[in-house]
Amino acid sequence: MTAPDDKREASLHGRIVLVTGANGGLGEQFVLQALERGASKVYAAARTPRAWADARIQPLSLDITDADAVRNAVLAAPDVDLLINNAAIAPQGDSLFGSEDAARDIFDTNFFGTLRVANAFAPILAANGGGTMLNILSSAVWVSIPTAYAASKAAMWSATNGLRFALEGQGTQVVGLHVGMVDTPMAAHFDTPKSSPASVVAQAYDGVAAGDIEVLADEQTRDLKSRLGEKAEEFYPWLHGMLRALLGS
Ligand SMILES: NC(=O)c1ccc[n+]([C@@H]2O[C@H](COP(=O)([O-])OP(=O)(O)OC[C@H]3O[C@@H](n4cnc5c(N)ncnc54)[C@H](OP(=O)(O)O)[C@@H]3O)[C@@H](O)[C@H]2O)c1
Repeated sequence: MTAPDDKREASLHGRIVLVTGANGGLGEQFVLQALERGASKVYAAARTPRAWADARIQPLSLDITDADAVRNAVLAAPDVDLLINNAAIAPQGDSLFGSEDAARDIFDTNFFGTLRVANAFAPILAANGGGTMLNILSSAVWVSIPTAYAASKAAMWSATNGLRFALEGQGTQVVGLHVGMVDTPMAAHFDTPKSSPASVVAQAYDGVAAGDIEVLADEQTRDLKSRLGEKAEEFYPWLHGMLRALLGS
């Protein structure tokens, strides 16, 4: 067992955190590790909030596709200084060649829902010293998987960069987290190697504490990002080969 790293554990000391999609997967880890690192309160926001055993965790009802629910969340959580935009959907059968309605549903959650929460909480972050917005993106931002999910995350990557620029003046740290497959319900039907949610969240919080603006939470994602400068004629054949090996197709 490694010795506790006091500095790391104290890295969120006194902070007030809101996590969307908090009930399971990465969201649950964001809630629990925030407390381990010294956060004083965590709003665990979910469409159907669950009970939590720790009094520092405040369940909050929030469907990010519902504008009224987002307004109510802002009223209920005026003290937030770390917003974690974690909620998203990745329906099975998602395809860029599928129904337009299905693609719109994905964008309604992953892009418009996330952007709605980001914009609604930006003034709250400003009022609480600038704070931090952590947007959970994906290595799919740079991978040409033909899904609306990948396209929605790419759009949210662009929006994350735009938000960083827009919120710079109010002192908000805007962080994009990119990662490949993670062992959560979302990726349960993929039979490939996956990162543990605990490790991804630990790296994300290390990045927040260090003042980073981007976190690459697995080796494959770091490798992928490092190759983006390659000529397209070299990059895409490599990428497609890597994807075929990963997806077994
Ligand atoms: N797992 C991966 O391989 C992987 C890879 C890269 C990035 N990510 C990203 O990591 C984040 C967390 O995903 P996960 O892997 O932990 O999957 P997950 O277990 O499916 O968690 C997603 C959460 O989002 C919530 N959610 C969906 N639609 C919502 C809405 N309209 N309003 C509020 N909450 C909503 C879900 O809530 P309900 O419980 O109500 O359904 C669920 O708790 C997502 O942004 C995902 O895109 C995941």
